[in-house]
Formats: sequence, C-alpha cells, structure tokens
Amino acid sequence: MSNLQFRRHRRLRQTPSIRAMVRETHIHKEDLIYPIFVVEGEGIKNEVPSMPGVFHLSLDLLNEEINEVVSLGIESVIIFGVPNHKDDVGTSAYHDHGIVQKAIAQIKENHQQLTVIADTCLCQFTDHGHCGVIEDGEILNDPTLNLLARTAVSQAQAGADIIAPSNMMDGFVAAIRHGLDEAGFTHVPIMSYAVKYASAFYGPFRDAAHSSPKFGDRKTYQMDPANRLEALREADSDIEEGADFLIVKPALSYLDIIREVKDHSGYPVVAYNVSGEYSMIKAASLNGWIDEKDTVLEKLTSMKRAGADLIITYFAKDVARWIS
Ligand code: PBG
Repeated sequence: MSNLQFRRHRRLRQTPSIRAMVRETHIHKEDLIYPIFVVEGEGIKNEVPSMPGVFHLSLDLLNEEINEVVSLGIESVIIFGVPNHKDDVGTSAYHDHGIVQKAIAQIKENHQQLTVIADTCLCQFTDHGHCGVIEDGEILNDPTLNLLARTAVSQAQAGADIIAPSNMMDGFVAAIRHGLDEAGFTHVPIMSYAVKYASAFYGPFRDAAHSSPKFGDRKTYQMDPANRLEALREADSDIEEGADFLIVKPALSYLDIIREVKDHSGYPVVAYNVSGEYSMIKAASLNGWIDEKDTVLEKLTSMKRAGADLIITYFAKDVARWIS
C-alpha cells in the first residue's frame, strides 16, 4: 500500500469550505434574466397549465410581480406580450400602446434601475403564428425586416433598455440596428437570438404565448439541431450586423454550442433555458422523482460552465432565493 503512487483528489473535497475554495463555476443573481408574460385585461393572474409557477399577468398585477423580482435581487427581466388583437402583419407588435410597450413603460416608471429587455418578434402578434410576413404560404424575409425595426423602435421609445430580436429572419440585426440608430437609440444594445434552433423544447412556451404556427413549422428560419458550424456563421453575421450579446437557444441540448460560440466570438453569451427544459424539471419534481433545487442548480451551473455569461430562466426567482 505505502509504495502505491496516485493522486489524492479527495483532499480538495473533504469539507464544504474546501470545496467552496476550489469551486470553478458560480451562479450570481446578476446572471439571471426572468421572463414575464403580460396580457391585456384586468385582475388576470393565470397559471400556464404546462408551466407550473409561470403566469399570464395583466398590467394591474404586474407591479406586485416586479417588486418581488427586484426584492430578490434579480437585475433584469425579459418581456413577452400576449395581445388580444392578432392580424396577418402583427400590428400589435409595433403599436405605441401595444401590451409590451405599455408593460415596459409601466415597469420603467416604477423601477428605473431594473434592466428591461424586450423580446422582439411577430409570432405572438400574427394570426398565422409565424415570425414573419406570409405570402402564398411562404415566410417572406425582407418585407418582415421593416416591421421588426418598427417593433424595436417602439419598444425603445417605451423605455426598453435592451432589444432582443428572436425571429431568425436574415438581416434582422442589421435592420433593427439601423432602425434604432435612425430613431436616436444608438445607445440601446441588441441581445440577438443569434443561434436559435427549431426545437421541440419550445412547446410549453407556445401554449403560454399563444404563438404556435397555424400551418407548417419554423424550420425554414430556425436552425437544424444537427448543425454546429452554422451556429458560428450565425454568430459571426449577427456580430457584423451589430449584435452586442449572443443568445444560444435552447440551452441544455446545446451546451457544446454555448462553449463554441463563447470561444469563437468572445462576446457576452446568453443561454436560454427554455420552457420545455423548465416543464420537464417541474413535472418530475412535482411527482417527487427528482429534487427540484439540486437539479435546477446543477443544470444552471452546467450552462455557466459551458461558457454562458447570462441565463434566461423561468427558475430565476427560485434560484435567487436558493443562492442568497
Ligand atoms: C419566438 C420565441 C420562442 C420562444 C421565445 N420566443 C420560440 C418559438 O416559438 O419558436 C421560446 C421560449 C421558450 O420555449 O421558453 N419568437
């Protein structure tokens, strides 16, 4: 025994204190971005059936939610709107008094220091549920760009601190950057959904946002999950067009992509821990099959270890509680 040669890795695992001293990856409250779904109407706080703990909120109940978020030490939220009115060109996405614009203005009025990110897309606002304008069953790229730029400008006018375009048309970052600059918003950063896969993990979100496509799927604009090099090309073009942050979405099945985009770009990378990833953990933990807290913290740690600087997650409030 005494002349066996080996390394004693367990020396550094002996106590909580030593383990903490050598821990390589940490989750901080300022890493967390909390998604919020706002709806028209009054007195509405409806739980999304496939996302326990996630609610549709009308504006009169929004302040309460934001106060809680702020008191937990979360520094940023991303706003998704579920409008009453939908049409073929998504008019309520860029209406001055659209639900998202009203929500942003209200939040900024009460909490100037909270960073408010606006998701910029059309699918919640179009009656066909696609992220772009449609002609003969085809999703048109270039005619959509102008509408996205209008949406982004209206969100910035309402007080959005960051614009997060999620729609995956080519050139959307260039169009939005140009629109923002022309309107005097040169200081408003773009957090681009640069690498967004056509994923089965968005199912619960589409229930929550009422944004399922009425025909076909999103595979002509969102990426094929099989592709890695294409992710780098997407990241490169968004950077050239003026993106300030790069989102990789979903997160868990794409940790390799998070690492590559981070190393390749050197830009701030955001992991989107999407709805299906949330619902799976919720379902299993509500059944008592896994421990929710330990599972969530392990998963979020893996995203940070993979290279994510920030994480958009429906667990943000829970995590903020657990780590404080
Ligand atoms: C589309 C959009 C999607 C999500 C956010 N914005 C996905 C989609 O329907 O293609 C998904 C977020 C989630 O699943 O949590 N604009």
